[in-house]
Amino acid sequence: MLRYFFIALGLFLVGLLAVAGFRGQKSGKPPIEIFPDMDHQPKVKAQVPSEFFADERGNRLPVPGTVPIGYEAPVSKENPFPDEGKYRMVRYSTGTDYLNTGRFGDRWGTGIPLPVTAELMQRGQERYTIFCGVCHGASGGGNGVAGQYGLVAIANFHQDRLREMADGEIYNTIVMGKNTMLGYGSKIPVDDRWAIVAYVRALQAAQTATINDVPPAERAALETPPTQP
Ligand code: HEC
Repeated sequence: MLRYFFIALGLFLVGLLAVAGFRGQKSGKPPIEIFPDMDHQPKVKAQVPSEFFADERGNRLPVPGTVPIGYEAPVSKENPFPDEGKYRMVRYSTGTDYLNTGRFGDRWGTGIPLPVTAELMQRGQERYTIFCGVCHGASGGGNGVAGQYGLVAIANFHQDRLREMADGEIYNTIVMGKNTMLGYGSKIPVDDRWAIVAYVRALQAAQTATINDVPPAERAALETPPTQP
């Protein structure tokens, strides 16, 4: 019984292929689209006029205040559109040294190759929140919001393996990604990557700190139990 069914199915498929495809002739008709997805959409193609704009030019000039990739501009509330010429160049890696690769020869190095200042840490916190927190969570526990949307096995920074990992390897993970984490090298300039590494280190230290890590002058405040309002 089952055999006849498969023979019938096979004949049907051969018939279907014979009718529907491989007819050996070219056709100018659009193909039958079962799932058109986003094949047809209004869009501007390069070097092609567009009726959407009054001057009918498809290619547009950058809007005022556009900052070229590889630069950043000091933007403030008073001056939301920075003047041309005031852009500061930011580094995207090209070199083969530790600053650019996180490596010394064929080994990962450790150490932040920029002065670790309060500004660098704040920058690191800000960039971490923008680029990493969605997955790794605000405190690095691997519990960011992306987990609720189905991303599994997001690394928790508070495991010994990652606590002991060299700074250079974390830097490289930011640039190249790791397994299911994509690389952010094209989005995050060199100095910001190191700022993020420094901040990840601070998040890790914050989970294992003891009272001895607090400057003596400030210990008393922490040791006094908080009073109930
Ligand atoms: C889209 C989600 C996502 C974002 C955004 C993200 N990560 Fe990850 N990250 C992951 C996942 C998932 C893993 C685990 C990958 C694996 O299977 O090893 C991971 C792993 C890591 C690891 C551990 C790598 C190892 O060797 O085990 C580090 C360190 C890390 N991420 C740092 C960062 C930093 C820093 C940022 C921000 C620049 C960032 N990640 C942004 C998802 C993300």
